[in-house]
Amino acid sequence: MRILVIGNGAREHALAYSLSRDPEVTEVHVSPGNAGMAAIATVHPDGDPVDLAEKVKADLVVIGPEIPLVAGLADQLRDAGFPVFGPSASAAQIEGSKKFAKDVMERAGVKTARAEHIPVGASEAEIDAALANFGPMYVVKDDGLAGGKGVVVTDDLAKAKEHVATVHAGNNPVLLESFLDGPEVSLFCLVDGETVVPLQPAQDHKRVGNNDQGPNTGGMGAYTPLPWLPADGVQRIVDEVVQPVASQMVADGVPFSGLLYAGLAWGADGPAVVEFNCRFGDPETQAVLEMLNSPLGQALYATATGNLDKLPPLEWKDGYALTVVLAAEGYPESPKLGAPIIGAGVGAEQRGIRTAGVKVAEDGSGLVSAGGRVLNVVATGATLEEARDKAYRELEQIDMPGGHYRTDIALPAVEGRITV
Ligand code: GLY
Repeated sequence: MRILVIGNGAREHALAYSLSRDPEVTEVHVSPGNAGMAAIATVHPDGDPVDLAEKVKADLVVIGPEIPLVAGLADQLRDAGFPVFGPSASAAQIEGSKKFAKDVMERAGVKTARAEHIPVGASEAEIDAALANFGPMYVVKDDGLAGGKGVVVTDDLAKAKEHVATVHAGNNPVLLESFLDGPEVSLFCLVDGETVVPLQPAQDHKRVGNNDQGPNTGGMGAYTPLPWLPADGVQRIVDEVVQPVASQMVADGVPFSGLLYAGLAWGADGPAVVEFNCRFGDPETQAVLEMLNSPLGQALYATATGNLDKLPPLEWKDGYALTVVLAAEGYPESPKLGAPIIGAGVGAEQRGIRTAGVKVAEDGSGLVSAGGRVLNVVATGATLEEARDKAYRELEQIDMPGGHYRTDIALPAVEGRITV
């Protein structure tokens, strides 16, 4: 099976690496990809995805990021006759439009935050009145695609108003939400219409600094599974959240096919939805795929071709996986690019390196940073402590001027500080 992966981040590197290890996969192509993936995939930095799928005779196209999904790339590829892992533009609205997601959840009876829109052009009095219905805490979201960085959660009314102004300045409406208390869970599910197959649950760390300090990012690290989640946690999320939403989307004539990502808060009464995404999460995927023993290509192909109900149960390794993001100086506000990366190059997948914002140095001597999220390190262990130790030991081998990473990924779980 020849597979084309669309995207250029560490999530796509992880997908491409796992796909390359599936015995039924003969070729992995990635576009635009990044220079760090070149040992395990053929990287195509340019080109139209449909033309490329034709050129490489793809048996399956896997679309990583949300932007091409919301823009309809899966529809274009399907119209051209390719099996695609990823939802149609209509179904991708579950991520692309917070209003669409809220409407589906309301009709499916799924627990989520109370929400109110503030449209672009709202007066100051209207904004004040809307904010008065919420908070503190204020949850102020960009109701568009914001790469995980469009939400500000704050108890400070002035900061909440400032973010409303920032989102409106970008010409997007604002979604205000009530704050959902409890630890966060990311549950990824393969979904093919009514059929839902959950992967292992993970937890992301979204703030840039230790102890959840500083601005939100696209995610600074993640671990899986979650030792604090009740034993029936995944089944409850499937039964109470993902299955009702998948069935509602079928009933509405917008069936979902691909990866449905439920972002949840586990409160006193169990799961409540913070958001849905229409694709694999970054960086959780880097950890989750490390635990999967079943062949990934066959699972994604079964989903893409409407045969998910015939897929044998997924098999998982024992133990834990953890991933840590190495970010560029100044990330997330204004990352400085072009820093040499010493100690991590092409072909370092076995050491757990998954690259994102990297390119080959002009003198060809190695990789330099080319984005705010530079690379991930992934490690596994019999315990979370062991996985943490291995990941951080590996990070110590990597030198990048100004680079920074959180040192507390999974630490609250290791120290038993997460209770539900
Ligand atoms: N882990 C956050 C995201 O993928 O949106």
